[in-house]
Amino acid sequence: MAVRTTSGPPETIRWRGGHIQIIDQTRLPEKLHYVSINNVKSLWHAIRTMQVRGAPAIGIAAALGMYLGVRGSAAKSARSFLREVERVARFLATARPTAINLFWALERMKRLVKDNLDKSPPALKRLLLAHALEMIDEDNRVCKAMGDFGARLLRDGDTVLTHCNAGGLATAGYGTALAVVYRAVEQGKRIHVFVDETRPLLQGARLTAWELKQSGIPATLMCDNMAASVMAKGWIKAVLVGADRITANGDFANKIGTYNLAVLAKYHRVPFYVVAPLSSFDPRLTSGDQIPIEERPPEELIYIRGQQIAPAGIMVHNPAFDVTPARFVTAVVTEGGILKPPFASSIRKVFRLAEKTLCSARGNKNR
Ligand code: MRU
Repeated sequence: MAVRTTSGPPETIRWRGGHIQIIDQTRLPEKLHYVSINNVKSLWHAIRTMQVRGAPAIGIAAALGMYLGVRGSAAKSARSFLREVERVARFLATARPTAINLFWALERMKRLVKDNLDKSPPALKRLLLAHALEMIDEDNRVCKAMGDFGARLLRDGDTVLTHCNAGGLATAGYGTALAVVYRAVEQGKRIHVFVDETRPLLQGARLTAWELKQSGIPATLMCDNMAASVMAKGWIKAVLVGADRITANGDFANKIGTYNLAVLAKYHRVPFYVVAPLSSFDPRLTSGDQIPIEERPPEELIYIRGQQIAPAGIMVHNPAFDVTPARFVTAVVTEGGILKPPFASSIRKVFRLAEKTLCSARGNKNR
């Protein structure tokens, strides 16, 4: 039986002594180091430079960042406090454009203040902090639920392929795509993970490989361009990836190279699963071509960890994400269940259900 030797990676984001502490993911795997952040500009910088990265983790960090941005506010009324909250949200929204979780978290924090305009600014500050911290627990619950649903898709002895890092480091601690693996292993299934190294920033090699090793789960690292050959050999039983934004029709953006894998999986008849919380959906967008794709600096291709590998000044194309059309997706695993094609209707249904559950929870609270 495969044994998960630890309860997973350490907390990605935590709140200690009035500071946000995040694992500096740019320093892994060499060093597990927490950076302390005590102002909103440093938090913005941590998101932009990917010290904290992965859609759900960015959302949580931004929520705590909102609190940092307004905790020193001298606003005398709730309305002027709200204006400050909105200003900080506009600033944080410029950190990275693709992961919808960033905007989802900022919206939630703004909504909290709008719904409590009868309270004083100090009370609103306390509410914001409590809400951001609750988002950490909520993320852990959601990831465990996705793990439970997704583990049903894996059989004992399966080898899966994953891209980038959709593990604990991309969330508060349990992961999305890797939650499925963690849960399956906890259930006693033997799962082997093939890990794409994920050029240019190597989130697979540096983060996923590290995380799986910490957890005692057998993993094999390979270059991104090896996926076709391992699929052709019949080694891969499923592809599991996360998502940064899923549109109403099921198209989704994820780390550059995900689309390649989806096409290869279809050709080789390998099931292709997306694992993402409802906070990664953007139902206002009707299709993937509307998703803003982040373009990152050319240096990320010209250098690998400080070592120059291409001539300075060469023209570079460096989108951080690509869009995979829904027709390549076998199923989307969410905390609300496993969504199957046609995605337009299964997505509508899961949101209707989530809305209903939320309304009845609010009703019970107000009783
Ligand atoms: O640029 P990154 O490292 O933030 O990209 C992360 C990804 O593409 C992940 O697959 C995605 O955020 C899902 S994480 C649960």
